[in-house]
Amino acid sequence: MNIAIVSSEIVPFAKTGGLADVSGALGKYLSFAGYDVRLFTPMYDMTSRDATEFQPAEDLRDIPIVFGGEDILCSVEIAKLPDSEAEVYFIDSPGLYDRGKIYTEDGDEYLRFAVLCRAVLESCQHLEWAPDVIHCNDWQSALIPLYLRTLYAWGELFGGTKTILAIHNLAYQGAFRGSIVDHLGFAEDHSLLHQDDLRAGVFNYMKHGIMYANAISTVSQTYAAEIQTPEYGEGLNEMLSYRSDALFGIVNGVDYEEWNPEGDMLIPHHYSLDDLQGKVKNKKNLLEQLELPYDPNVPVFGIVSRLVYQKGFDLFCNIMEPFLRHIDLRLCVLGSGADEYEKFFQSLNDQYPEKVCFYNGYSNELAHLIEAGADIFLMPSRYEPCGLNQIYSLKYGTIPIVRKTGGLADTVQQFNPETGEGNGFVFEDFNPHGLAWGIEQALEVWNDKKAWKTLMKNAMSANWSWEKQIDKYVELYERVM
Ligand code: ADP
Ligand code: GLC
Repeated sequence: MNIAIVSSEIVPFAKTGGLADVSGALGKYLSFAGYDVRLFTPMYDMTSRDATEFQPAEDLRDIPIVFGGEDILCSVEIAKLPDSEAEVYFIDSPGLYDRGKIYTEDGDEYLRFAVLCRAVLESCQHLEWAPDVIHCNDWQSALIPLYLRTLYAWGELFGGTKTILAIHNLAYQGAFRGSIVDHLGFAEDHSLLHQDDLRAGVFNYMKHGIMYANAISTVSQTYAAEIQTPEYGEGLNEMLSYRSDALFGIVNGVDYEEWNPEGDMLIPHHYSLDDLQGKVKNKKNLLEQLELPYDPNVPVFGIVSRLVYQKGFDLFCNIMEPFLRHIDLRLCVLGSGADEYEKFFQSLNDQYPEKVCFYNGYSNELAHLIEAGADIFLMPSRYEPCGLNQIYSLKYGTIPIVRKTGGLADTVQQFNPETGEGNGFVFEDFNPHGLAWGIEQALEVWNDKKAWKTLMKNAMSANWSWEKQIDKYVELYERVM
């Protein structure tokens, strides 16, 4: 089976969030399983070239792609995913991708990713490589199914090609003004476009992906159900319900070669279910690095996150202060994003410098150390398609407190000290009382060392390896084929 994966971010080359981890791991594990998998992504100016060697693809040089009568030239560089045979094709078009960041609010944002979609199809044609499945990810590659029905419908190469649109986050849809449709190459195909939108003067990439992909997947079963409701559907719930026979939820896997306390290259002390001594040493190390006082009996809470509306940090605003005032705890926060959340965590840091450390920025090393050194991980998301950090946390015995939504609901179960079952703390209602209840529950069990050990063991036994999850994708590919 030939599989093309198209993604706007891929680890270890470019990343803003979990999409990058998932795209990279999917490529790696499909390749381990013996499939011919090729990944496609833009070559940004900030793409990291450290991990592997890049080669220009001789057959894919200055390919002209016509938009509105003008040629946009794309070349391709190829690099292997580290520790894998899977090749990544980097679409190089500096005028579009050299912007100092992956996503922009520039006027040609629509074009940057329409070019990605078409460059993938043009590259396949030049290589005469026929993908059986094109696995598109989020709005940035969601036009591929429509392009296959229109501009690329004539060629035999794609005669047997099926498409999957994986939704990692429905809140980002790629919604633009309707006047771009002719520039995108759909002048002859208005009848295939969403008619109400066309009349309203808008054009939505994700919507057309949902309309035309052979199957739609999303990254947890709960999110697959949630997005069919008005509360979580971001205006696309009716369309998703209409396509519910072709909509599948598959929880993300984790690359345990990267995220595993037994072999993690980025943490100072390794540990496992059978020998937890390293965890305490990592806790000490984490607090030393963040210049917070260490006490093995004081629980350390960790946060690693984009600081955005989705992640629910507004719930902290009312409740965190009283906890910090009355209870001896440490809070280590790594993240960046919206001003209001950055300011909030900075003010906690300033007010309680002995208890709180806010690292405003991005650091993969610190992300690993927080997973390894914290006792409790906070993820009170408003919505969460899957979420990776709570799954990493389970493996590191760092007990997650989560809101019951999306992938958080599918991976974390409330701990019951009486039966000894469960691997974390789960609150249902998105309000500050819910989160406060979760934190109180965690503090109560923390004080019962035996129960806490049981909880850690339950958490660390969870297995969300890609080896396991990849079979579900292969099943889906076979199903659409
Ligand atoms: P999302 O994709 O919505 O941001 P996920 O939980 O799926 O949420 O994935 C987030 C990924 O990004 C994880 O690998 C996490 O470790 C990483 N991450 C988020 N913020 C930071 C940061 N400030 N520094 C380092 N890694 C981060
Ligand atoms: C998105 C979601 C997150 C998910 C990630 C990878 O960024 O917000 O929940 O884990 O994609 O699928």
